Amino acid sequence: MKRWFLVLASTFLFAEDSFITQYEYGEMLYKNPRGIGCIHCHGKHGEGARIASYKEDGKTIVLRGPDIRKVSKEKLKRSLVKRYRVMPTYFLTDSEIGALYYFLVNREP
Ligand code: HEC
Repeated sequence: MKRWFLVLASTFLFAEDSFITQYEYGEMLYKNPRGIGCIHCHGKHGEGARIASYKEDGKTIVLRGPDIRKVSKEKLKRSLVKRYRVMPTYFLTDSEIGALYYFLVNREP
C-alpha cells in the first residue's frame, strides 16, 4: 500500500514537470496571477494596453499600461511589490516571478 502511494506520488510530480512548460506556467500566471491579470493592462504579450480614457477640460486623457517586454527581472520583481498609482501589488513567489519573466522574454511575436 505504502509503495503504491509512492509510485502514484512520483507519477504526479513527474507529470507536473512534463506537461506544463515554464512558458505555459508563465503565461498562465500572466493571465491569472492571484489578482487582476497583467494581460488587462499590459496587453496579450506585454506590449502595453489602453486601460481607460476620460475627458478633462475638453482633452482626452488616455491611461495606459506600459510595454514590459524588455523589462529586467529585477525591475519586474520590484514592480510587483511597489505601490504604484495604478498598478496593484502582488504576492508571488520567486519561482512564479521567474516563470512570468520567462514568458515575457520568450513571448511569441
Ligand atoms: C490595473 C492595471 C495593471 C495591472 C493589472 C498590472 N499592471 Fe503593471 N503597470 C500598470 C501601470 C499603469 C504601470 C505604470 C506605473 C503606474 O502608473 O502604476 C505599470 C508598471 C509595470 C511595470 C514597470 C514598467 C516600467 O518600465 O517601469 C512592470 C514590470 C509591470 N507593470 C508588470 C506587471 C505584471 C507582471 C503584472 C501582473 C502580475 C502587472 N504589471 C499588472 C498597470 C497594471
